Amino acid sequence: MRLQEKVIFITGGAKGIGGAAAKVCAGYGGKIVAVDLLEDRLRQTVDEIKAAGGDAIWAVADVTKRDQVKAAIQKALDQYGRIDCLFNAAGVDRIGGFLDMTDDEYDFNMNINVKGSFICCAEAARVMIPNKKGRIINTSSIAAVREEAYNGTYCMSKAAVSMMTRVLALELAPHNITTVAIQPGNIETDILRESFTNRGKAEGKDVREFYAEMEATIPMGYIGRPEEIAEVVAYLCDDRSAYIDGNSILIAGGKIMA
Ligand SMILES: NC(=O)c1ccc[n+]([C@@H]2O[C@H](COP(=O)([O-])OP(=O)(O)OC[C@H]3O[C@@H](n4cnc5c(N)ncnc54)[C@H](O)[C@@H]3O)[C@@H](O)[C@H]2O)c1
Repeated sequence: MRLQEKVIFITGGAKGIGGAAAKVCAGYGGKIVAVDLLEDRLRQTVDEIKAAGGDAIWAVADVTKRDQVKAAIQKALDQYGRIDCLFNAAGVDRIGGFLDMTDDEYDFNMNINVKGSFICCAEAARVMIPNKKGRIINTSSIAAVREEAYNGTYCMSKAAVSMMTRVLALELAPHNITTVAIQPGNIETDILRESFTNRGKAEGKDVREFYAEMEATIPMGYIGRPEEIAEVVAYLCDDRSAYIDGNSILIAGGKIMA
Protein backbone atom coordinates (compact mmCIF):
# COMPACT_ATOMS: atom_id res chain seq x y z
CA MET A 1 0.00 0.00 0.00
CA ARG A 2 1.35 3.43 -0.90
CA LEU A 3 0.02 5.85 1.72
CA GLN A 4 3.22 7.82 2.34
CA GLU A 5 2.43 11.52 2.77
CA LYS A 6 -1.33 10.87 2.60
CA VAL A 7 -3.28 12.79 5.24
CA ILE A 8 -6.17 10.56 6.34
CA PHE A 9 -8.96 12.04 8.50
CA ILE A 10 -10.82 9.28 10.34
CA THR A 11 -14.05 9.83 12.27
CA GLY A 12 -14.80 7.21 14.90
CA GLY A 13 -11.02 6.88 14.94
CA ALA A 14 -10.74 6.16 18.66
CA LYS A 15 -11.52 2.45 18.51
CA GLY A 16 -13.27 -0.34 16.60
CA ILE A 17 -13.07 -0.21 12.80
CA GLY A 18 -11.97 3.46 12.74
CA GLY A 19 -9.26 2.83 15.35
CA ALA A 20 -8.00 -0.21 13.44
CA ALA A 21 -7.97 1.81 10.19
CA ALA A 22 -5.96 4.55 11.93
CA LYS A 23 -3.30 2.04 13.01
CA VAL A 24 -3.21 0.07 9.76
CA CYS A 25 -3.06 3.19 7.54
CA ALA A 26 -0.36 4.71 9.78
CA GLY A 27 1.58 1.48 9.37
CA TYR A 28 1.53 2.04 5.61
CA GLY A 29 2.89 5.58 6.05
CA GLY A 30 -0.32 7.64 6.26
CA LYS A 31 -0.54 10.72 8.48
CA ILE A 32 -3.61 10.18 10.64
CA VAL A 33 -6.11 12.63 12.09
CA ALA A 34 -8.25 10.56 14.46
CA VAL A 35 -11.56 12.19 15.42
CA ASP A 36 -14.06 10.96 17.97
CA LEU A 37 -16.04 11.85 21.09
CA LEU A 38 -13.81 9.71 23.30
CA GLU A 39 -10.71 11.67 24.27
CA ASP A 40 -9.06 8.92 26.35
CA ARG A 41 -9.40 6.32 23.60
CA LEU A 42 -8.19 8.83 20.99
CA ARG A 43 -5.05 9.54 23.03
CA GLN A 44 -4.46 5.79 23.42
CA THR A 45 -4.80 5.12 19.67
CA VAL A 46 -2.55 8.04 18.72
CA ASP A 47 0.03 7.03 21.36
CA GLU A 48 0.10 3.48 19.95
CA ILE A 49 0.62 4.82 16.41
CA LYS A 50 3.45 7.07 17.55
CA ALA A 51 5.07 4.30 19.60
CA ALA A 52 5.13 2.21 16.41
CA GLY A 53 6.92 5.06 14.57
CA GLY A 54 3.82 6.52 12.87
CA ASP A 55 2.51 10.06 12.56
CA ALA A 56 -0.90 10.96 14.03
CA ILE A 57 -2.89 13.61 15.86
CA TRP A 58 -6.34 13.51 17.44
CA ALA A 59 -9.28 15.89 17.75
CA VAL A 60 -12.42 15.58 19.85
CA ALA A 61 -15.52 16.35 17.77
CA ASP A 62 -19.14 15.32 17.54
CA VAL A 63 -19.74 14.56 13.85
CA THR A 64 -23.30 15.90 14.08
CA LYS A 65 -22.03 19.37 15.03
CA ARG A 66 -20.76 21.26 11.99
CA ASP A 67 -18.69 23.73 14.05
CA GLN A 68 -16.87 20.90 15.80
CA VAL A 69 -16.19 19.10 12.51
CA LYS A 70 -14.85 22.33 10.99
CA ALA A 71 -12.57 22.84 14.01
CA ALA A 72 -11.21 19.29 13.65
CA ILE A 73 -10.59 19.87 9.94
CA GLN A 74 -8.78 23.11 10.77
CA LYS A 75 -6.60 21.21 13.24
CA ALA A 76 -5.72 18.76 10.43
CA LEU A 77 -4.88 21.64 8.06
CA ASP A 78 -2.77 23.40 10.71
CA GLN A 79 -0.76 20.23 11.29
CA TYR A 80 -0.49 18.72 7.81
CA GLY A 81 -1.68 21.40 5.33
CA ARG A 82 -4.33 19.32 3.57
CA ILE A 83 -6.68 16.34 3.78
CA ASP A 84 -6.25 13.63 1.14
CA CYS A 85 -8.72 11.05 2.44
CA LEU A 86 -11.76 11.11 4.69
CA PHE A 87 -12.86 7.85 6.30
CA ASN A 88 -16.24 8.26 8.00
CA ALA A 89 -16.36 5.43 10.54
CA ALA A 90 -18.26 7.16 13.38
CA GLY A 91 -21.56 5.39 13.84
CA VAL A 92 -24.08 4.02 16.30
CA ASP A 93 -26.70 1.27 16.41
CA ARG A 94 -29.65 1.88 18.75
CA ILE A 95 -31.73 -1.29 18.54
CA GLY A 96 -35.51 -1.25 18.59
CA GLY A 97 -38.59 -2.71 16.97
CA PHE A 98 -40.47 -0.44 14.58
CA LEU A 99 -43.44 -0.05 16.87
CA ASP A 100 -41.42 0.57 20.03
CA MET A 101 -38.79 2.95 18.75
CA THR A 102 -39.16 6.50 20.07
CA ASP A 103 -38.56 9.61 17.99
CA ASP A 104 -35.42 10.31 20.02
CA GLU A 105 -34.04 6.84 19.28
CA TYR A 106 -34.81 7.31 15.58
CA ASP A 107 -33.03 10.67 15.63
CA PHE A 108 -30.01 9.18 17.41
CA ASN A 109 -29.35 6.59 14.67
CA MET A 110 -30.18 8.93 11.81
CA ASN A 111 -28.31 11.96 13.13
CA ILE A 112 -25.02 10.25 13.79
CA ASN A 113 -25.01 7.77 10.89
CA VAL A 114 -26.53 9.94 8.16
CA LYS A 115 -26.25 13.60 9.15
CA GLY A 116 -22.80 13.07 10.68
CA SER A 117 -21.51 11.53 7.43
CA PHE A 118 -23.28 14.24 5.42
CA ILE A 119 -21.56 17.04 7.39
CA CYS A 120 -18.11 15.42 7.31
CA CYS A 121 -18.34 14.66 3.56
CA ALA A 122 -19.33 18.26 2.78
CA GLU A 123 -16.72 19.92 5.00
CA ALA A 124 -13.90 17.62 3.86
CA ALA A 125 -14.87 18.04 0.19
CA ARG A 126 -14.72 21.82 0.62
CA VAL A 127 -11.02 21.60 1.53
CA MET A 128 -10.26 18.89 -1.09
CA ILE A 129 -11.76 20.80 -4.04
CA PRO A 130 -8.99 23.45 -4.25
CA ASN A 131 -6.42 20.59 -4.29
CA LYS A 132 -8.27 18.98 -7.24
CA LYS A 133 -7.89 15.60 -5.57
CA GLY A 134 -9.42 13.58 -2.78
CA ARG A 135 -10.93 10.33 -1.60
CA ILE A 136 -14.00 9.91 0.62
CA ILE A 137 -14.81 6.54 2.20
CA ASN A 138 -18.14 6.18 3.96
CA THR A 139 -19.22 3.36 6.23
CA SER A 140 -22.48 1.78 5.17
CA SER A 141 -23.24 -1.77 6.30
CA ILE A 142 -24.49 -5.14 5.14
CA ALA A 143 -27.63 -3.85 6.93
CA ALA A 144 -28.14 -1.49 3.97
CA VAL A 145 -28.91 -4.46 1.73
CA ARG A 146 -29.98 -7.20 4.15
CA GLU A 147 -32.90 -6.35 6.41
CA GLU A 148 -32.55 -7.04 10.15
CA ALA A 149 -35.54 -7.34 12.49
CA TYR A 150 -35.44 -4.96 15.48
CA ASN A 151 -32.76 -2.91 13.72
CA GLY A 152 -34.87 -0.97 11.22
CA THR A 153 -33.63 2.59 11.69
CA TYR A 154 -30.01 1.39 11.56
CA CYS A 155 -30.73 -0.47 8.28
CA MET A 156 -32.45 2.65 6.92
CA SER A 157 -29.58 4.90 7.99
CA LYS A 158 -26.99 2.72 6.27
CA ALA A 159 -29.04 2.50 3.06
CA ALA A 160 -29.04 6.32 3.11
CA VAL A 161 -25.23 6.34 3.49
CA SER A 162 -24.86 4.10 0.41
CA MET A 163 -27.10 6.41 -1.62
CA MET A 164 -25.28 9.50 -0.29
CA THR A 165 -22.07 7.91 -1.61
CA ARG A 166 -23.58 7.44 -5.10
CA VAL A 167 -24.83 11.01 -5.30
CA LEU A 168 -21.56 12.45 -4.00
CA ALA A 169 -19.60 10.47 -6.58
CA LEU A 170 -21.60 12.21 -9.31
CA GLU A 171 -21.09 15.66 -7.84
CA LEU A 172 -17.43 15.30 -6.83
CA ALA A 173 -15.91 13.30 -9.72
CA PRO A 174 -15.51 16.51 -11.79
CA HIS A 175 -13.24 17.76 -8.98
CA ASN A 176 -11.20 14.53 -9.11
CA ILE A 177 -12.62 13.51 -5.73
CA THR A 178 -13.81 9.92 -5.59
CA THR A 179 -16.32 8.54 -3.13
CA VAL A 180 -16.86 4.97 -2.06
CA ALA A 181 -18.61 3.12 0.77
CA ILE A 182 -17.71 -0.03 2.62
CA GLN A 183 -20.40 -2.40 3.84
CA PRO A 184 -18.94 -4.45 6.69
CA GLY A 185 -20.74 -7.62 7.72
CA ASN A 186 -20.50 -8.71 11.36
CA ILE A 187 -17.29 -7.34 12.85
CA GLU A 188 -16.13 -7.87 16.45
CA THR A 189 -16.45 -4.37 17.98
CA ASP A 190 -18.43 -2.69 20.76
CA ILE A 191 -21.29 -1.88 18.37
CA LEU A 192 -21.65 -5.52 17.41
CA ARG A 193 -21.48 -6.78 21.01
CA GLU A 194 -24.18 -4.32 22.11
CA SER A 195 -26.30 -4.94 19.04
CA PHE A 196 -26.18 -8.74 19.37
CA THR A 197 -26.99 -8.53 23.09
CA ASN A 198 -30.04 -6.34 22.51
CA ARG A 199 -31.26 -8.09 19.36
CA GLY A 200 -30.89 -11.42 21.15
CA LYS A 201 -32.98 -10.08 24.04
CA ALA A 202 -35.63 -8.76 21.62
CA GLU A 203 -35.90 -12.28 20.16
CA GLY A 204 -35.94 -13.91 23.64
CA LYS A 205 -32.47 -15.49 23.22
CA ASP A 206 -29.31 -15.23 25.30
CA VAL A 207 -26.23 -13.58 23.81
CA ARG A 208 -24.27 -16.79 23.20
CA GLU A 209 -27.22 -18.35 21.40
CA PHE A 210 -27.65 -15.23 19.24
CA TYR A 211 -23.87 -15.11 18.47
CA ALA A 212 -23.92 -18.75 17.38
CA GLU A 213 -26.96 -18.14 15.18
CA MET A 214 -25.30 -15.13 13.57
CA GLU A 215 -22.00 -16.96 13.01
CA ALA A 216 -23.94 -19.70 11.25
CA THR A 217 -25.10 -17.10 8.70
CA ILE A 218 -21.49 -16.33 7.69
CA PRO A 219 -20.15 -18.74 5.06
CA MET A 220 -16.56 -18.15 6.25
CA GLY A 221 -17.74 -19.23 9.72
CA TYR A 222 -16.48 -16.43 11.94
CA ILE A 223 -17.18 -12.84 12.99
CA GLY A 224 -14.71 -10.55 11.21
CA ARG A 225 -11.92 -8.59 12.88
CA PRO A 226 -11.69 -4.77 12.60
CA GLU A 227 -8.24 -5.16 10.99
CA GLU A 228 -9.81 -7.10 8.10
CA ILE A 229 -11.92 -4.03 7.30
CA ALA A 230 -8.99 -1.68 7.94
CA GLU A 231 -6.88 -3.36 5.22
CA VAL A 232 -9.62 -2.64 2.65
CA VAL A 233 -9.82 0.96 3.86
CA ALA A 234 -6.05 1.30 3.39
CA TYR A 235 -6.39 0.02 -0.17
CA LEU A 236 -9.20 2.50 -0.82
CA CYS A 237 -6.93 5.32 0.41
CA ASP A 238 -4.25 4.23 -2.08
CA ASP A 239 -4.40 6.08 -5.43
CA ARG A 240 -4.34 2.73 -7.22
CA SER A 241 -7.95 2.10 -6.14
CA ALA A 242 -9.21 5.44 -7.49
CA TYR A 243 -11.34 3.96 -10.28
CA ILE A 244 -13.63 2.46 -7.62
CA ASP A 245 -16.14 5.29 -7.42
CA GLY A 246 -19.73 5.59 -6.23
CA ASN A 247 -20.36 2.00 -5.17
CA SER A 248 -20.51 0.17 -1.86
CA ILE A 249 -18.15 -2.71 -1.24
CA LEU A 250 -19.42 -5.59 0.85
CA ILE A 251 -16.83 -7.11 3.24
CA ALA A 252 -18.78 -9.80 5.01
CA GLY A 253 -17.13 -13.23 4.83
CA GLY A 254 -19.60 -14.34 2.17
CA LYS A 255 -22.66 -13.48 4.30
CA ILE A 256 -24.72 -12.04 1.47
CA MET A 257 -24.75 -15.51 -0.11
CA ALA A 258 -26.19 -17.12 3.03
N1 LIG B 1 -19.14 -3.82 13.88
C1 LIG B 1 -19.94 -4.20 12.91
O1 LIG B 1 -20.37 -5.37 12.82
C2 LIG B 1 -20.34 -3.20 11.85
C3 LIG B 1 -21.00 -3.68 10.71
C4 LIG B 1 -21.36 -2.79 9.72
C5 LIG B 1 -21.08 -1.44 9.86
N2 LIG B 1 -20.46 -1.00 10.98
C6 LIG B 1 -20.17 0.42 11.08
O2 LIG B 1 -18.79 0.62 11.30
C7 LIG B 1 -18.61 1.90 11.91
C8 LIG B 1 -17.65 1.75 13.08
O3 LIG B 1 -18.31 1.04 14.13
P1 LIG B 1 -17.57 -0.03 15.04
O4 LIG B 1 -18.18 -1.33 14.75
O5 LIG B 1 -16.11 0.13 14.92
O6 LIG B 1 -18.09 0.38 16.50
P2 LIG B 1 -17.39 1.24 17.67
O7 LIG B 1 -18.47 1.57 18.63
O8 LIG B 1 -16.20 0.53 18.20
O9 LIG B 1 -16.90 2.55 16.92
C9 LIG B 1 -17.75 3.63 16.64
C10 LIG B 1 -17.03 4.92 17.02
O10 LIG B 1 -17.84 6.03 16.62
C11 LIG B 1 -17.73 7.01 17.64
N3 LIG B 1 -18.87 7.93 17.59
C12 LIG B 1 -20.17 7.65 17.85
N4 LIG B 1 -20.91 8.77 17.77
C13 LIG B 1 -20.07 9.77 17.42
C14 LIG B 1 -20.25 11.15 17.18
N5 LIG B 1 -21.45 11.74 17.28
N6 LIG B 1 -19.17 11.89 16.84
C15 LIG B 1 -17.94 11.32 16.75
N7 LIG B 1 -17.71 10.01 16.97
C16 LIG B 1 -18.76 9.25 17.31
C17 LIG B 1 -17.71 6.21 18.93
O11 LIG B 1 -17.23 6.95 20.03
C18 LIG B 1 -16.81 5.04 18.55
O12 LIG B 1 -15.46 5.29 18.83
C19 LIG B 1 -20.00 2.39 12.28
O13 LIG B 1 -20.44 3.32 11.31
C20 LIG B 1 -20.84 1.14 12.23
O14 LIG B 1 -22.19 1.42 11.98
C21 LIG B 1 -20.07 -1.85 11.98
